[in-house]
Amino acid sequence: MGGDELGTPKREPAVPRERAPDRERYEQRLLIQYSAGRILANAESMDAAAPKLLEAIAGALDWPVGLLWTPHDEDRVLPCAGHWERTTQYAGFAAACRETAFASDAGLPGHVWSTRAPVWIADVREDSAFSRLEPAVDHGLCCGFAFPIMLGEQFYGVMEFFTDQIQPADEGLLQIAGSLGYQIGEFVERTRAQQRLAEREESYRALTETASDGIMTIDAASTVLLANTAAAEIFGYTVEELIGADLSALMPESMRVLHQAGIARYLETGRRGRAWQAMRVTGRHRAGYEIPLEVSFGEYNRQGKHFFVGVIRDVTERQRLNDMLRQSAKLESLGVLAGGIAHDFNNLLTGILGNVSLALETVGDAHPASGALRDAIEASERAAHLTKQLLAYAGKGRFVIEPTDLSALVREIAVLIQSSIPKHVALRMDLEEPLPPVDADIAQIQQLVMNLVINGAEAIPENHPGTVLVVTRTQEADAPYLAAFGAEDIAPGKYVSLSVHDNGAGMDESTLSRIFDPFFTTKFTGRGLGLAAAAGIVRGHKGALKVFSSPGQGTTFKVLLPMGVRTRSKPEEPGTGESLLGQGLVLVVDDEPLVRRTAKTGLEKYGYSVLTANNGREGVDCFREVHDQLKAVILDMTMPVMSGEEALEQMRLIDPGVPVMLSSGYNEVEAIRRFTGKGLAGFLQKPYTAAALAEELRTAIGDADRGAVQ
Ligand SMILES: Nc1ncnc2c1ncn2[C@@H]1O[C@H](COP(=O)(O)OP(=O)(O)OP(=O)(O)O)[C@@H](O)[C@H]1O
Ligand SMILES: [Mg+2]
Repeated sequence: MGGDELGTPKREPAVPRERAPDRERYEQRLLIQYSAGRILANAESMDAAAPKLLEAIAGALDWPVGLLWTPHDEDRVLPCAGHWERTTQYAGFAAACRETAFASDAGLPGHVWSTRAPVWIADVREDSAFSRLEPAVDHGLCCGFAFPIMLGEQFYGVMEFFTDQIQPADEGLLQIAGSLGYQIGEFVERTRAQQRLAEREESYRALTETASDGIMTIDAASTVLLANTAAAEIFGYTVEELIGADLSALMPESMRVLHQAGIARYLETGRRGRAWQAMRVTGRHRAGYEIPLEVSFGEYNRQGKHFFVGVIRDVTERQRLNDMLRQSAKLESLGVLAGGIAHDFNNLLTGILGNVSLALETVGDAHPASGALRDAIEASERAAHLTKQLLAYAGKGRFVIEPTDLSALVREIAVLIQSSIPKHVALRMDLEEPLPPVDADIAQIQQLVMNLVINGAEAIPENHPGTVLVVTRTQEADAPYLAAFGAEDIAPGKYVSLSVHDNGAGMDESTLSRIFDPFFTTKFTGRGLGLAAAAGIVRGHKGALKVFSSPGQGTTFKVLLPMGVRTRSKPEEPGTGESLLGQGLVLVVDDEPLVRRTAKTGLEKYGYSVLTANNGREGVDCFREVHDQLKAVILDMTMPVMSGEEALEQMRLIDPGVPVMLSSGYNEVEAIRRFTGKGLAGFLQKPYTAAALAEELRTAIGDADRGAVQ
C-alpha cells in the first residue's frame, strides 16, 4: 500500500499523509466485501464457507485470529464452531476458545448475541467483561471485534477477530461487519432452505418408492413427469421408460378418448366428470392385456400450468376374489334351491316307485298291465337318478364313506357304460394297480366317473373315431401345485388322481367359464347337471377338479381325491327274498302322506303291522303308548313340529330297546354321526322300494334281537 507522499505520481490528487491509513482501510473493506461475496457465491454450505470467510476477513485486516460461534439450540449457549489462526503460535488461544461456550450476554460473543450489534474492544485488559483474558494475554492478543450473523429476527452466530495491537474502534469496519453479518445470514438461510428442500425431496422419494400403489405425475398434455417403481411394475415398463412417455400408451383405445376429453373439460371448466377418488378405469399392460385399476387423482398448479397426480392400484386380484365370491354365492343359492326341490321330489318318487312296484308284484308279470308298470318303474328310476344329480350338486346326496379302490371302480363302470357309448368312441383305461383306497361314497364316485366319461364320449363328433381315456394315479400335491390347480382350500398331501381325456371338440373360453353352472348345456338333449353334480361330489369329498380344454384340442378333466385313512370293512351279504319276511308292529313317522301310505302297504305285504304318525310329536306320543309292542320305528329326519332328531332323542329316553331307523332324502352324515352310540339302528335313503325297506328293517331288527345295539 502506498503511504509515501514522494512516490505519488503528479497526476493523482494529493492525498494528505495522515489520510493514508484511511485509504488503506478503504481498500481493506473493499477486499473484505469482495472476497466474502465470492466465497458465499461459490460455497454450498456454511460449514464449507466459514473457514474461508474467517481467513479472508482476518487476512484482509492482517489480524492473526478469527473465530466463529454458532448457537446450540438445546443448551441455549454459543460454542465455538470454527477458527482460523495465521500461525500455530495462536493455536493455544483457539484451543482455549473451543473449550468455552457463552451464555447470552456473557463474554464478547454472548454480548453480541444479546445486543445483535457489532462490538469493538480496543484493549481486552481494560474490559472487565472479557473472560478469556488469560489465554489472550498469554498469546499477546489485546484488541478484538465481533459482529452478529443474522437475517431479520433470525440469529445464526457471531464472528470474532483478534489482533496483537491496541486499536481504537474502527466505526467504518464495524459498519461493514454489520452488513457482512446480514449477507452471511442470508447465505445461511438460503443453504438451510435448500437443505430442507433436499431432505423433503428425499423423504418424498422414499415415500413414493415404498408405496405399493403406483404413483404418477403427468402434465396437461398427458406426458409422464414422474413415476414410481410400483407404477412401472403395474404396466410392465421400467421407471425410465415411463418418464417422458405419453399416458395414452398405458390405456386401451377406448379409455384414451375418455381420458383426453376428461382433462380437456377440466382445464376448460374446472368441472370433474367423475369422482376423482377410487375411480375404476382400465389400463393396458405392455404385453397388450387390459388391467383393472382403481385410480385416485389429485391436481396442482405451478406457474399457471396444471399437473395431475394419480395413485394407481391394480385390482386384478380383488376382482378375481369378488368374482369367485359372487360365483360361489350364486352356486350356493342354486344349491339350496335344487336341494329343496330334490328333497320334496324324492318323497313323491318314494310314493310312486313303492306303489308301482307293489302293483307289479300284485298283478304279476303275466298281467297285460305289467309292461306299463315296468315302464313306469324305469321312468321313476331315471327321475330318481336326476334327483340324485341335483342332491349331489347341492352336496346333500347320501354319503356313506368307505375305503374305495378307484381303479376297480372305474373297471366296473366301464362294463356298465360300454352299451351307452357310441361305436365310434373307444373307451380306454390306464389304471394304476394296486391303487391306495380313497375314503369315498361309492355311488357318488360312480356318478362322477360316469358323468365325466359320458361327457367325453358326447364331445366326439359323430362318425369321427375318437377315444376317451381314463387314467388313475397316485400323486403328492404340495401347496404350490394345489394353488396352480385352483384348489387353495384343500390340504397338501397324498392324493389319488382320476383323469378323463377325450380327443373331442374341446371348449372355448366362454363355454369353459360356465360348464359347472347347473342347467348349462350346449347339447340338444342335455340337462346341464352332469358337471354341476361332479363338482358337488368332488367338493363333498374334499377333493379338487380342474379342466384343461381348448377348441379342437380335446378335453381333460382331472380330479384329485385325498388318499384314504380308513381300513376296509367286510362286505355285507345281500339279503335274499325269503329272509325279508317278518312280523310285529312298526311305527312309521313321516310328514308326507304318500310316503306313509307306501311304507305301510309295503311293510304289510312283508308281514308287518304298521302304525303311522304325521310328525315328530305324534310319533313320540304314539311311541310312549305302544313302545313295548314295537319291533322298530322308521323316522323321517326333516319334519315340522318336532324334527326326527329330537323325536329320536325322546324315544331313546322312553325306551332305548326299540330300534329306530332314520330315513331322509338328504345326506345326513352329520346327524347320523351325532347319533352314533345313541342307538340309531340304520339309515334309509329316500326314495326307497318296499323291498329295500323290508331289507333294512330285517337287518335292524336282527341286530336288535342279537342285542347288538350300536
Ligand atoms: N369333455 C367335454 N368336451 C367338450 N365339452 C364338454 C365336455 N364336458 C362338458 N362339456 C360342455 O359342458 C356342458 C355341461 O356339461 P354337463 O355334463 O354339466 O351337462 P350336459 O352334458 O350338457 O348335460 P347332462 O350331463 O346333464 O346330460 C356340456 O353341454 C358341454 O358343452
Ligand atoms: Mg354331461
